[in-house]
Order: sequence, then structure tokens, then C-alpha cells
Amino acid sequence: HSADAQRTDLMTITRFVLNQQSNHPESRGDFSILLSHIVLGCKFLCSAVNKGEEQKKLDVLSNDVFIKALVSSGRTCILVSEEDEEATFVEASKRGKYCVVFDPLDGSSNIDCGVSIGTIFGIYLIKEDHEPTIEDVLQPGKNMLAAGYCMYGSSCTLVLSTGSGVNGFTLDPSLGEFILTHPDIKIPKKGKIYSVNEGNAKNWDDPTTKYVENCKYPRDGSSPKSLRYIGSMVADVHRTLLYGGIFLYPADKKSPNGKLRVLYEVFPMSFLMEQAGGQAFTGNQRALDLVPKKLHERSPIFLGSYEDVEEIKALYAAEE
Ligand code: AHG
Ligand code: MN
Ligand code: MN
Ligand code: MN
Repeated sequence: HSADAQRTDLMTITRFVLNQQSNHPESRGDFSILLSHIVLGCKFLCSAVNKGEEQKKLDVLSNDVFIKALVSSGRTCILVSEEDEEATFVEASKRGKYCVVFDPLDGSSNIDCGVSIGTIFGIYLIKEDHEPTIEDVLQPGKNMLAAGYCMYGSSCTLVLSTGSGVNGFTLDPSLGEFILTHPDIKIPKKGKIYSVNEGNAKNWDDPTTKYVENCKYPRDGSSPKSLRYIGSMVADVHRTLLYGGIFLYPADKKSPNGKLRVLYEVFPMSFLMEQAGGQAFTGNQRALDLVPKKLHERSPIFLGSYEDVEEIKALYAAEE
């Protein structure tokens, strides 16, 4: 019986990634070791969140845990965290070939009321044989090797792409293992939900204003979309990935580049969206083509179902 077979044949995230990478035998071991250290950080946070740690503590704690786990993996050379102004360059004796960019705790304003929060990460490979420099991480998102997030919600879910589709794993607390629960996630071609902080509406540009207006009062006779906005990017993007629709954090007059950070928010989520069959757009280009000039650079972002993102692209194109 196949359900039983699935229940007994435990597909852990480690096993899954090892299988998936069997065509890159040279980096199999290294990548799995790196991933297991990221997973350790996620497990720690999952348990800390469940214990109800305070926001202030969790913010600092989560960054420390990830930095230490990543350095001690012996597989990283440069780390960029939302919480640190400067990048961390790993000392030569612990150096490896991966650069990790991450937001250790995303949605931190939601911690104290128990709403879902998460960790977001992206992984680059350093160019062969040279001293790591900041240019190694100031790379367009399409150069990422892998990206993912972990959501600490009613359960703890890790969503990962290594460049061949998107897969979701749920932490089984009794095993302490992430088990494959959402194989080959594909985002619906079109969705019924839009997700945006509408409190910023008075400062939006015309295409964004028209787009949201059309979500509420469609001109083609279709039903209006529903609005869902949690204010945790991980949770809002996770819902968008599973149910379809669009998530946007647009530019506005006060924040001409929006709010979200290119390296560790916009890129990993855009990478996952494309891998799931959706799109990610900045308001003037494919998000993954952006070349960041600074570590903590921001960009407007529109991501989600293929057809929903097509609509906002058309509105921006009509402006030109
Ligand atoms: P962080 O907690 O890492 O600083 O990020 C918060 C982000 C993101 O999670 C969310 O999408 C966005 O802030 C919400 O911003 P608004 O409160 O402006 O809507
Ligand atoms: Mn922050
Ligand atoms: Mn964040
Ligand atoms: Mn954060």
C-alpha cells in the first residue's frame, strides 16, 4: 500500500538533497554539510519560537546562532546577514566555497503576538581560487545556487530550491528531522489573492495604484481578489506559493526602493517563485537580473502567479 510505503520510507531533507545532487558528485558532500548547518539554525529557532522567547532576545540570538553554525560548517567564506552592517569574512582555516546571504528572523515585529515568522537564505558559490571579496555576493539573483526559507508557524516548514524545482519539508519534532511533505511545489498560474500593505496607498505610483484598484474592481467582469496581508514576508510568500496570487512591496513616494532587501529577501523569494513556475518583477525588470551595488540595498518587488505578475508588468510597460 503506497501511503504506508511513504510513511516508512522517510525522505529527510538531507537524503533528498543528496539524491538530487547525484549529478554533481563533486559538491554533494559539501552542499549537504552546509545545508545541515542551516537546518540546525532553523531547528533552534523553531524551538525558541515555541518556547515564546521575547523579540529582543530572539533577534540577537537568531543571528548569533546562524553565524556560528555557518562558520563552523567549514563550508562558507562570506556571510551577509540582515542584522549585521558589514559582511562576515570567514577565517582562512574554516573557509569553504559558499557565500550565504540571510535574514535570520523575518517578520520580527510579529514575534510577540505569536504570528508566523521565518528565516530566509540564499547561497552563492565563490568563483574559483581567489580571496573572497564583497563582489562575490554582489551578484544577480539568477547566479544563486540555492535559496529557501523556513517558516515558524503552527508547524515548522522549510521550503528549498537548488535550481531544479521547489520542495517543502516539515519538521517532525519527535524525529528532529525535516521530512518531505510538499514535493515539487508549483504555484497556480493565476490566483485569487493579493497581498500588500495598503496603508501606503496614498504614496504609490500609478501602475501600483491601478493594479490594486483592478484587484478590487476588475474591469473584465472577473471576481475581485481577496486581500491577505500578514506582514511577515515569509508567511505572505508561503501562502502565495501554495495558493497563488501576488505579493507586492512596491515603491512609494517615501520609500522609492520599497522596503525589502535585495540580497536576502527579494532574491531568495524570487528564485523560489521562478522555480515554482511564477514570476518576480521589480517594476522595471526581472528581479533576478538585478545587480546589487550594496549589501543592504532595497528594491520594489511584485512576485507570485505567472499571470498575475504579467498584469503588473503590462501596467508598468504602458507607462513608458
Ligand atoms: P524584518 O522583520 O526582517 O525586518 O522584515 C520585515 C519585513 C517583511 O517581513 C514584511 O514583508 C515587511 O517587513 C512588512 O513591512 P510593513 O510593516 O511596512 O508592511
Ligand atoms: Mn529588521
Ligand atoms: Mn526581513
Ligand atoms: Mn530580519
